[in-house]
Amino acid sequence: MIQLQDAYKSFGSNHVLRGVDLEVPDGQTLTIIGGSGTGKSVSLKLMVGLLRPDQGRVYVDGVEISRLKEDKLFEVQKKFGFLFQGAALFDSLTVAENILFGVKHLRPSLMRQADVLVKKKLSLVGLKPEVARLKPAELSGGMKKRVGLARAIAHEPKYILYDEPTTGLDPIMADVINDLILEVQSKLNVTSIVVTHDMTSAYKVSSRIAMLYDGRIVFVGSPEETQTTDNPLVKQFVTGSSQGPIQMPVRSGV
Ligand SMILES: Nc1ncnc2c1ncn2[C@@H]1O[C@H](COP(=O)(O)OP(=O)(O)OP(=O)(O)O)[C@@H](O)[C@H]1O
Ligand SMILES: [Mg+2]
Repeated sequence: MIQLQDAYKSFGSNHVLRGVDLEVPDGQTLTIIGGSGTGKSVSLKLMVGLLRPDQGRVYVDGVEISRLKEDKLFEVQKKFGFLFQGAALFDSLTVAENILFGVKHLRPSLMRQADVLVKKKLSLVGLKPEVARLKPAELSGGMKKRVGLARAIAHEPKYILYDEPTTGLDPIMADVINDLILEVQSKLNVTSIVVTHDMTSAYKVSSRIAMLYDGRIVFVGSPEETQTTDNPLVKQFVTGSSQGPIQMPVRSGV
């Protein structure tokens, strides 16, 4: 289980998270929704220890990671696979090298069967073995996301963090990725946290949906509850309306 307890994170005068409470029980898929810049990616980075909270605590399987030393933190980070926003593949490495990048550090024993591992993970995300030799520049956006997912699951993590897995994809490819998230969930029995703006995706893949607004979690509910809630913040966000309590900055004179 992952827990954020009263987590605060600021960057200078930018107070991004101001008391975030969130629990992700094992086996669930929790989706975090919220406007651009509300701190969704920052929340994921707190969970995996890439950022530390200024105040509050982060627990992974009961271990408080917010103050762990690097070597202990590294042990906890092995439990995580991270599909970064925009896939973030290394352009100079082949697909196979990208997939194995984390495995080398996190689970070196798996490197003995590196070729088999790459083929297995590519097949799991619906890509042919020949793709292993290609460079990221030779891949479509959808293929890049798949390779990013293959890399995220290569070291057999318990937790998978997906940062905007469907952004920038056409609706059909986005749904292919949704199906992959569900398939990975059932085949590998992982716990997933998904960050997305894509409500179709959120409704399809989530056990629960949490909305981040103004530095806090303002709502948590099932997909059904998210669609029927009276919470005006959630209602405005899921219907994509510019009218409501959520104010977007608008340049004067435009
Ligand atoms: N390492 C950092 N240094 C300084 N500021 C940062 C850093 N990381 C994030 N921020 C700031 O924190 C805020 C939240 O960023 P975050 O990336 O979490 O937003 P987000 O909710 O993921 O947005 P988007 O939907 O656009 O990806 C932004 O104002 C961002 O500029
Ligand atoms: Mg983000």
